[in-house]
Amino acid sequence: MQLARLQQALAARQQAGLRRQSQAFTQVQGRLLHCNGKAYLNFSANDYLDLASDKLLQGALAEGASRYGVGSTGSPLVTGHHSAHADLTAQLAEWLGFERVLLFSSGFAANQTMLGSLAAESDLLLLDKLSHASLIDAALQHKGRFKRFAHNDLAALSRLLPAIPGADSHSLVVTEGVFSMDGDSPDLTAMARLCAEQDAALLLDDAHGLGVLGEEGRGSWFAQGLKPTDLYCYMANFGKALGVGGAFLAGRKTLIDYIEQFGRHYIYSTALSPALCCAVSKSIELVRTEQWRRDKLYDNIALFQQRAAAAGLPCLAATGAIQAVMLGNSEHAVAVSQQLREQGIWLTAIRPPTVPPGTARLRVTLSASQQPADIEYLIKMLQQALLC
Ligand SMILES: Cc1ncc(COP(=O)(O)O)c(C=O)c1O
Repeated sequence: MQLARLQQALAARQQAGLRRQSQAFTQVQGRLLHCNGKAYLNFSANDYLDLASDKLLQGALAEGASRYGVGSTGSPLVTGHHSAHADLTAQLAEWLGFERVLLFSSGFAANQTMLGSLAAESDLLLLDKLSHASLIDAALQHKGRFKRFAHNDLAALSRLLPAIPGADSHSLVVTEGVFSMDGDSPDLTAMARLCAEQDAALLLDDAHGLGVLGEEGRGSWFAQGLKPTDLYCYMANFGKALGVGGAFLAGRKTLIDYIEQFGRHYIYSTALSPALCCAVSKSIELVRTEQWRRDKLYDNIALFQQRAAAAGLPCLAATGAIQAVMLGNSEHAVAVSQQLREQGIWLTAIRPPTVPPGTARLRVTLSASQQPADIEYLIKMLQQALLC
Protein backbone atom coordinates (compact mmCIF):
# COMPACT_ATOMS: atom_id res chain seq x y z
CA MET A 1 0.00 0.00 0.00
CA GLN A 2 2.80 2.40 0.82
CA LEU A 3 4.65 1.31 -2.31
CA ALA A 4 1.55 2.19 -4.36
CA ARG A 5 1.82 5.77 -3.07
CA LEU A 6 5.45 5.92 -4.12
CA GLN A 7 4.63 4.46 -7.54
CA GLN A 8 1.97 7.12 -8.03
CA ALA A 9 4.43 9.88 -7.23
CA LEU A 10 6.96 8.38 -9.64
CA ALA A 11 4.35 8.07 -12.39
CA ALA A 12 3.24 11.69 -11.85
CA ARG A 13 6.81 12.88 -12.13
CA GLN A 14 7.29 10.84 -15.30
CA GLN A 15 4.10 12.22 -16.83
CA ALA A 16 5.15 15.78 -16.08
CA GLY A 17 8.39 15.09 -17.98
CA LEU A 18 10.37 15.69 -14.79
CA ARG A 19 11.75 12.25 -13.98
CA ARG A 20 15.52 12.37 -13.73
CA GLN A 21 17.98 9.59 -14.33
CA SER A 22 21.59 9.11 -13.41
CA GLN A 23 24.12 7.76 -15.90
CA ALA A 24 26.97 5.40 -15.15
CA PHE A 25 29.93 7.26 -16.64
CA THR A 26 32.92 5.07 -17.31
CA GLN A 27 35.39 7.92 -17.22
CA VAL A 28 35.26 11.65 -16.65
CA GLN A 29 38.57 13.13 -17.67
CA GLY A 30 38.18 16.87 -17.54
CA ARG A 31 37.35 17.84 -21.10
CA LEU A 32 35.70 14.55 -22.09
CA LEU A 33 33.28 12.29 -20.34
CA HIS A 34 32.61 8.74 -21.46
CA CYS A 35 29.24 7.03 -21.35
CA ASN A 36 28.13 3.80 -23.05
CA GLY A 37 31.32 3.63 -25.08
CA LYS A 38 31.05 7.19 -26.46
CA ALA A 39 33.00 10.32 -25.57
CA TYR A 40 31.28 13.68 -25.10
CA LEU A 41 32.49 17.23 -24.58
CA ASN A 42 31.79 17.91 -20.92
CA PHE A 43 29.78 21.07 -20.22
CA SER A 44 28.03 19.85 -17.08
CA ALA A 45 30.64 19.10 -14.41
CA ASN A 46 31.54 21.44 -11.53
CA ASP A 47 35.23 20.64 -11.98
CA TYR A 48 35.93 24.29 -12.80
CA LEU A 49 39.73 24.11 -12.48
CA ASP A 50 40.16 20.67 -14.08
CA LEU A 51 41.52 19.16 -10.88
CA ALA A 52 39.26 16.12 -10.39
CA SER A 53 41.41 13.86 -12.58
CA ASP A 54 44.76 15.55 -11.90
CA LYS A 55 47.66 13.10 -11.53
CA LEU A 56 49.07 14.90 -8.47
CA LEU A 57 45.72 14.60 -6.69
CA GLN A 58 45.52 10.92 -7.62
CA GLY A 59 49.01 10.45 -6.16
CA ALA A 60 48.11 12.31 -2.95
CA LEU A 61 44.99 10.16 -2.54
CA ALA A 62 46.93 6.91 -3.03
CA GLU A 63 49.70 8.01 -0.68
CA GLY A 64 47.13 9.14 1.91
CA ALA A 65 45.38 5.76 1.71
CA SER A 66 48.59 3.82 2.23
CA ARG A 67 49.64 6.08 5.11
CA TYR A 68 46.34 6.51 6.99
CA GLY A 69 44.11 3.77 5.60
CA VAL A 70 41.02 4.27 3.49
CA GLY A 71 38.31 4.95 6.05
CA SER A 72 38.37 7.30 9.03
CA THR A 73 36.89 4.52 11.25
CA GLY A 74 34.55 6.73 13.25
CA SER A 75 32.94 10.05 13.95
CA PRO A 76 35.35 12.93 14.59
CA LEU A 77 34.96 12.97 18.37
CA VAL A 78 35.55 9.21 18.65
CA THR A 79 38.26 7.81 16.31
CA GLY A 80 37.55 9.70 13.05
CA HIS A 81 39.82 12.72 13.45
CA HIS A 82 43.35 11.92 12.24
CA SER A 83 46.42 14.05 11.75
CA ALA A 84 45.40 14.33 8.05
CA HIS A 85 42.22 16.13 9.19
CA ALA A 86 44.15 18.35 11.59
CA ASP A 87 46.66 19.27 8.85
CA LEU A 88 43.86 20.09 6.40
CA THR A 89 41.95 22.31 8.83
CA ALA A 90 45.16 24.18 9.69
CA GLN A 91 45.91 24.64 5.98
CA LEU A 92 42.38 25.96 5.32
CA ALA A 93 42.54 28.38 8.26
CA GLU A 94 45.90 29.71 7.08
CA TRP A 95 44.80 30.04 3.42
CA LEU A 96 41.54 31.82 4.16
CA GLY A 97 42.36 33.63 7.40
CA PHE A 98 39.55 32.19 9.55
CA GLU A 99 40.32 31.36 13.17
CA ARG A 100 39.02 27.80 13.07
CA VAL A 101 37.69 25.28 10.56
CA LEU A 102 35.64 22.08 10.91
CA LEU A 103 35.37 19.36 8.22
CA PHE A 104 32.21 17.65 6.97
CA SER A 105 31.60 14.80 4.56
CA SER A 106 29.44 16.98 2.29
CA GLY A 107 28.30 20.55 1.75
CA PHE A 108 24.74 19.38 2.33
CA ALA A 109 25.66 18.17 5.83
CA ALA A 110 27.71 21.32 6.52
CA ASN A 111 24.74 23.55 5.60
CA GLN A 112 22.38 21.48 7.73
CA THR A 113 24.73 21.93 10.65
CA MET A 114 25.35 25.62 9.99
CA LEU A 115 21.67 26.56 10.20
CA GLY A 116 20.60 23.74 12.52
CA SER A 117 23.09 24.57 15.22
CA LEU A 118 23.50 28.34 14.87
CA ALA A 119 19.86 29.49 14.62
CA ALA A 120 18.20 29.57 18.05
CA GLU A 121 14.42 29.34 18.25
CA SER A 122 14.19 33.06 19.05
CA ASP A 123 16.19 33.99 15.92
CA LEU A 124 14.91 35.26 12.59
CA LEU A 125 16.33 33.32 9.62
CA LEU A 126 16.45 35.19 6.29
CA LEU A 127 17.30 33.26 3.13
CA ASP A 128 17.66 34.30 -0.49
CA LYS A 129 14.74 32.95 -2.58
CA LEU A 130 17.08 30.91 -4.79
CA SER A 131 19.01 29.26 -1.96
CA HIS A 132 20.31 25.74 -2.44
CA ALA A 133 18.09 22.84 -1.28
CA SER A 134 20.49 22.06 1.59
CA LEU A 135 19.89 25.55 3.04
CA ILE A 136 16.14 25.53 2.43
CA ASP A 137 15.73 22.11 4.06
CA ALA A 138 17.73 23.23 7.08
CA ALA A 139 15.69 26.44 7.35
CA LEU A 140 12.41 24.51 7.13
CA GLN A 141 13.44 22.67 10.28
CA HIS A 142 14.02 25.95 12.12
CA LYS A 143 11.44 26.27 14.90
CA GLY A 144 11.57 30.05 14.92
CA ARG A 145 10.74 32.69 12.28
CA PHE A 146 11.96 32.06 8.73
CA LYS A 147 11.49 34.31 5.70
CA ARG A 148 12.89 34.40 2.18
CA PHE A 149 13.91 37.59 0.42
CA ALA A 150 13.78 38.28 -3.33
CA HIS A 151 16.88 37.00 -5.08
CA ASN A 152 19.95 39.22 -4.49
CA ASP A 153 17.61 42.08 -3.53
CA LEU A 154 19.17 44.16 -0.75
CA ALA A 155 16.18 46.48 -0.47
CA ALA A 156 13.89 43.48 0.06
CA LEU A 157 16.30 42.09 2.64
CA SER A 158 16.52 45.37 4.53
CA ARG A 159 12.70 45.56 4.74
CA LEU A 160 12.70 42.18 6.50
CA LEU A 161 15.42 43.02 9.00
CA PRO A 162 13.90 44.22 12.26
CA ALA A 163 14.79 47.85 13.10
CA ILE A 164 15.44 46.92 16.72
CA PRO A 165 16.71 43.41 17.34
CA GLY A 166 15.27 41.75 20.43
CA ALA A 167 17.48 41.24 23.49
CA ASP A 168 17.83 37.52 22.85
CA SER A 169 16.78 37.44 19.22
CA HIS A 170 19.21 37.73 16.33
CA SER A 171 18.78 37.90 12.58
CA LEU A 172 20.77 35.44 10.50
CA VAL A 173 21.11 36.34 6.82
CA VAL A 174 22.01 33.46 4.52
CA THR A 175 23.23 33.82 0.94
CA GLU A 176 25.54 32.23 -1.63
CA GLY A 177 28.74 33.57 -3.18
CA VAL A 178 27.68 32.27 -6.61
CA PHE A 179 24.18 30.86 -7.07
CA SER A 180 24.29 27.29 -8.29
CA MET A 181 21.60 27.50 -10.98
CA ASP A 182 21.66 31.17 -12.08
CA GLY A 183 25.42 31.67 -11.70
CA ASP A 184 25.04 35.22 -10.40
CA SER A 185 26.34 36.76 -7.16
CA PRO A 186 24.99 39.14 -4.54
CA ASP A 187 26.70 42.42 -3.70
CA LEU A 188 28.41 40.96 -0.65
CA THR A 189 30.09 44.24 0.32
CA ALA A 190 26.73 46.01 0.59
CA MET A 191 25.14 43.00 2.26
CA ALA A 192 27.89 42.81 4.89
CA ARG A 193 27.48 46.55 5.53
CA LEU A 194 23.72 46.20 5.91
CA CYS A 195 24.14 43.24 8.27
CA ALA A 196 26.65 45.19 10.38
CA GLU A 197 24.29 48.21 10.58
CA GLN A 198 21.37 46.00 11.62
CA ASP A 199 23.39 43.81 13.97
CA ALA A 200 22.57 40.78 11.82
CA ALA A 201 24.89 37.83 11.21
CA LEU A 202 25.93 37.02 7.63
CA LEU A 203 26.29 33.32 6.69
CA LEU A 204 27.78 32.49 3.30
CA ASP A 205 27.62 29.33 1.20
CA ASP A 206 30.52 29.63 -1.26
CA ALA A 207 30.29 26.20 -2.90
CA HIS A 208 30.82 27.73 -6.36
CA GLY A 209 33.15 30.58 -5.35
CA LEU A 210 35.98 28.85 -3.51
CA GLY A 211 38.92 28.17 -5.82
CA VAL A 212 37.38 30.15 -8.67
CA LEU A 213 37.23 33.70 -7.34
CA GLY A 214 39.65 36.02 -5.56
CA GLU A 215 43.40 36.01 -5.14
CA GLU A 216 44.69 32.43 -4.75
CA GLY A 217 41.08 31.30 -5.18
CA ARG A 218 40.03 32.36 -1.67
CA GLY A 219 36.45 32.79 -2.80
CA SER A 220 33.70 35.29 -3.52
CA TRP A 221 33.95 37.09 -0.15
CA PHE A 222 37.64 37.74 -0.71
CA ALA A 223 37.07 38.86 -4.32
CA GLN A 224 34.52 41.40 -3.04
CA GLY A 225 36.88 42.79 -0.40
CA LEU A 226 35.32 41.24 2.72
CA LYS A 227 37.38 40.16 5.73
CA PRO A 228 36.81 36.81 7.47
CA THR A 229 35.35 38.69 10.43
CA ASP A 230 32.61 40.17 8.18
CA LEU A 231 31.15 36.66 8.02
CA TYR A 232 29.56 34.95 11.00
CA CYS A 233 29.97 31.56 9.32
CA TYR A 234 31.50 30.47 6.00
CA MET A 235 30.67 27.22 4.21
CA ALA A 236 32.45 25.88 1.15
CA ASN A 237 32.96 22.42 -0.24
CA PHE A 238 35.70 20.38 -1.86
CA GLY A 239 33.61 18.73 -4.56
CA LYS A 240 33.45 21.63 -7.01
CA ALA A 241 36.55 23.64 -8.00
CA LEU A 242 38.79 21.61 -5.68
CA GLY A 243 37.82 18.45 -7.53
CA VAL A 244 37.49 16.07 -4.57
CA GLY A 245 34.52 15.91 -2.13
CA GLY A 246 33.65 16.95 1.42
CA ALA A 247 33.16 20.41 2.91
CA PHE A 248 33.98 22.71 5.81
CA LEU A 249 32.59 25.42 8.03
CA ALA A 250 34.87 28.29 9.11
CA GLY A 251 34.59 31.22 11.46
CA ARG A 252 35.68 32.56 14.86
CA LYS A 253 37.09 30.02 17.30
CA THR A 254 34.09 30.27 19.62
CA LEU A 255 31.66 29.64 16.77
CA ILE A 256 33.49 26.53 15.56
CA ASP A 257 34.03 25.29 19.14
CA TYR A 258 30.26 25.58 19.57
CA ILE A 259 29.48 23.67 16.34
CA GLU A 260 31.93 20.96 17.37
CA GLN A 261 29.91 20.44 20.57
CA PHE A 262 26.38 20.97 19.25
CA GLY A 263 26.43 20.27 15.48
CA ARG A 264 24.65 16.94 15.15
CA HIS A 265 25.79 16.24 11.56
CA TYR A 266 29.34 16.70 12.77
CA ILE A 267 29.12 14.68 15.96
CA TYR A 268 27.04 11.75 14.76
CA SER A 269 28.54 11.07 11.33
CA THR A 270 31.61 9.17 10.16
CA ALA A 271 34.43 11.62 9.46
CA LEU A 272 35.74 12.26 5.96
CA SER A 273 38.28 9.69 4.78
CA PRO A 274 41.80 10.79 5.78
CA ALA A 275 43.03 9.83 2.30
CA LEU A 276 40.53 12.29 0.82
CA CYS A 277 41.91 14.96 3.16
CA CYS A 278 45.35 14.38 1.61
CA ALA A 279 43.89 14.85 -1.88
CA VAL A 280 42.09 18.05 -0.81
CA SER A 281 45.29 19.32 0.72
CA LYS A 282 47.19 18.81 -2.54
CA SER A 283 44.32 20.44 -4.43
CA ILE A 284 44.51 23.56 -2.24
CA GLU A 285 48.25 23.76 -2.95
CA LEU A 286 47.51 23.75 -6.71
CA VAL A 287 44.56 26.14 -6.42
CA ARG A 288 46.79 28.65 -4.65
CA THR A 289 49.82 28.40 -6.88
CA GLU A 290 48.47 27.56 -10.35
CA GLN A 291 46.80 30.84 -11.33
CA TRP A 292 46.88 29.65 -14.95
CA ARG A 293 43.89 27.41 -14.18
CA ARG A 294 41.75 30.42 -13.20
CA ASP A 295 43.10 32.43 -16.14
CA LYS A 296 42.12 29.67 -18.55
CA LEU A 297 38.67 29.38 -16.97
CA TYR A 298 38.15 33.16 -17.18
CA ASP A 299 39.21 33.12 -20.86
CA ASN A 300 36.66 30.37 -21.51
CA ILE A 301 33.92 32.31 -19.68
CA ALA A 302 34.70 35.46 -21.70
CA LEU A 303 34.67 33.50 -24.96
CA PHE A 304 31.35 31.81 -24.14
CA GLN A 305 29.73 35.11 -23.15
CA GLN A 306 30.95 36.92 -26.23
CA ARG A 307 29.87 34.18 -28.65
CA ALA A 308 26.54 33.53 -26.88
CA ALA A 309 25.66 37.24 -27.02
CA ALA A 310 26.65 37.44 -30.69
CA ALA A 311 24.51 34.37 -31.42
CA GLY A 312 21.54 35.82 -29.52
CA LEU A 313 21.27 32.89 -27.12
CA PRO A 314 18.83 33.44 -24.21
CA CYS A 315 21.42 33.48 -21.41
CA LEU A 316 20.96 34.87 -17.91
CA ALA A 317 23.34 37.68 -16.97
CA ALA A 318 26.13 35.97 -15.03
CA THR A 319 29.84 36.60 -15.05
CA GLY A 320 31.08 33.28 -13.67
CA ALA A 321 31.60 29.67 -14.65
CA ILE A 322 27.88 28.85 -14.51
CA GLN A 323 25.97 30.17 -17.53
CA ALA A 324 22.26 29.40 -17.81
CA VAL A 325 20.67 29.14 -21.26
CA MET A 326 17.01 29.74 -20.42
CA LEU A 327 14.46 27.60 -22.24
CA GLY A 328 11.44 27.77 -19.91
CA ASN A 329 9.65 24.59 -20.93
CA SER A 330 10.99 21.33 -19.43
CA GLU A 331 10.28 19.10 -22.45
CA HIS A 332 11.99 21.58 -24.73
CA ALA A 333 15.04 21.67 -22.44
CA VAL A 334 15.26 17.87 -22.41
CA ALA A 335 14.83 17.68 -26.19
CA VAL A 336 17.63 20.21 -26.80
CA SER A 337 19.88 18.44 -24.29
CA GLN A 338 19.24 15.16 -26.15
CA GLN A 339 19.91 16.77 -29.52
CA LEU A 340 23.24 18.13 -28.22
CA ARG A 341 24.12 14.68 -26.91
CA GLU A 342 23.69 13.25 -30.40
CA GLN A 343 26.22 15.84 -31.52
CA GLY A 344 28.75 14.80 -28.88
CA ILE A 345 27.99 17.41 -26.21
CA TRP A 346 27.03 16.56 -22.63
CA LEU A 347 24.91 19.42 -21.32
CA THR A 348 22.27 18.46 -18.78
CA ALA A 349 18.80 20.03 -18.76
CA ILE A 350 17.89 21.45 -15.34
CA ARG A 351 14.17 21.31 -14.58
CA PRO A 352 11.80 21.95 -11.69
CA PRO A 353 11.90 21.25 -8.78
CA THR A 354 15.62 22.10 -8.94
CA VAL A 355 14.65 25.45 -10.51
CA PRO A 356 11.31 27.34 -10.25
CA PRO A 357 8.47 26.23 -12.57
CA GLY A 358 8.74 27.63 -16.09
CA THR A 359 12.49 28.24 -15.84
CA ALA A 360 13.94 25.01 -17.22
CA ARG A 361 17.37 25.61 -18.64
CA LEU A 362 20.61 24.22 -19.91
CA ARG A 363 23.21 24.91 -17.23
CA VAL A 364 26.52 25.35 -19.02
CA THR A 365 29.50 24.94 -16.73
CA LEU A 366 32.76 26.27 -18.03
CA SER A 367 36.06 24.80 -16.98
CA ALA A 368 39.79 25.21 -17.44
CA SER A 369 39.72 21.87 -19.27
CA GLN A 370 37.81 23.14 -22.32
CA GLN A 371 39.49 24.30 -25.52
CA PRO A 372 38.27 27.44 -27.37
CA ALA A 373 37.18 25.19 -30.27
CA ASP A 374 34.93 23.21 -27.86
CA ILE A 375 33.13 26.41 -26.88
CA GLU A 376 32.79 27.54 -30.51
CA TYR A 377 31.29 24.13 -31.33
CA LEU A 378 28.87 24.29 -28.38
CA ILE A 379 27.65 27.73 -29.45
CA LYS A 380 27.18 26.56 -33.03
CA MET A 381 25.19 23.51 -31.94
CA LEU A 382 23.09 25.55 -29.49
CA GLN A 383 22.38 28.09 -32.19
CA GLN A 384 21.33 25.33 -34.56
CA ALA A 385 19.08 23.71 -31.94
CA LEU A 386 17.46 26.90 -30.67
CA LEU A 387 17.41 29.46 -33.40
CA CYS A 388 17.12 27.64 -36.71
C1 LIG B 1 25.25 26.17 -3.42
C2 LIG B 1 25.48 24.77 -2.95
N1 LIG B 1 25.52 24.53 -1.63
C3 LIG B 1 25.70 23.29 -1.15
C4 LIG B 1 25.86 22.22 -2.00
C5 LIG B 1 26.02 20.83 -1.43
O1 LIG B 1 27.36 20.47 -1.46
P1 LIG B 1 27.81 18.96 -1.56
O2 LIG B 1 27.64 18.56 -2.99
O3 LIG B 1 29.24 18.96 -1.12
O4 LIG B 1 26.93 18.18 -0.64
C6 LIG B 1 25.87 22.42 -3.38
C7 LIG B 1 26.10 21.29 -4.32
O5 LIG B 1 25.28 20.84 -5.03
C8 LIG B 1 25.64 23.73 -3.87
O6 LIG B 1 25.58 23.97 -5.18
